[in-house]
Amino acid sequence: MPILGEQGQDAKFQELCCSFGLEPSNIPQHVAIVMDGNGRWAAKKGLPRVMGHKQGAESLREVIRACADFHVHYLSVYAFSSENWTRPAEEVGFLMKFFRELIAREIPKLHKEGVRVRILGDVEGLDKDLRDLVRYAHETTENNTVMQFNILLNYGSRAEMTLAVKRLSNDIVAGVIAAESVTEDVFASYLYTVDIPDPDIVIRPGGEHRLSNFLLWQSAYSEVFFLDTLWPDFDRVALVQVVAQFQTRKRRFGGV
Ligand code: FPP
Repeated sequence: MPILGEQGQDAKFQELCCSFGLEPSNIPQHVAIVMDGNGRWAAKKGLPRVMGHKQGAESLREVIRACADFHVHYLSVYAFSSENWTRPAEEVGFLMKFFRELIAREIPKLHKEGVRVRILGDVEGLDKDLRDLVRYAHETTENNTVMQFNILLNYGSRAEMTLAVKRLSNDIVAGVIAAESVTEDVFASYLYTVDIPDPDIVIRPGGEHRLSNFLLWQSAYSEVFFLDTLWPDFDRVALVQVVAQFQTRKRRFGGV
């Protein structure tokens, strides 16, 4: 895996942080987002729900660029949960088609900008053409180092942990690892997020105050921000405001 953020602490970055009132030495390494509120954003405007998803993708585009500019090295977004299949077939159909279009259209642009893209989740449970696009996204952007953008697709934290337990048990039975040697780090290496640092910040726009099966193991010590802003209204300024608040928080990781 390439070393991310090789662009260093350049003057442009320092200036940008200064102009937004951020401390350049305390930028979160990993921001994770539950992109919620698309449907309600559309309903408020009298539009079909899918228009909310379209506008949500615009917010995402802006937030990816903001993360690159502010040297946030990892951005993870919850695009489709393992539970989202229970939505009306029409909406699921739209979302799958939309993911295909977005991956095909945006990957070349993200690649040009040096963004490494990873799709995390039960990829095997997706249609063949989407699986092919996932492979294309991974292969194309594999060696990029500006930042890593993780799309959690057909993802659920409990399913992820259950799969990790199965794979770990198989390795124990096969003698690859002894049960006594299993530590938290060993367990974490069986999760989709292997090699990705835990999120410093989890943001949930959309007014709900829950994590909804998102990165439950990884967010043990994350600073969590629940915002009333609906995801399609979330932008660069909203991200900066969260980072500014993060910079005022004291993280103790269970210590004093
Ligand atoms: C939740 O809002 C949002 C989703 C299930 C889809 C999010 C997807 C995007 C923004 C597109 C991004 C695409 C890629 C490839 C990363 P909701 O529908 O639950 O909103 P509601 O709570 O107001 O109904």
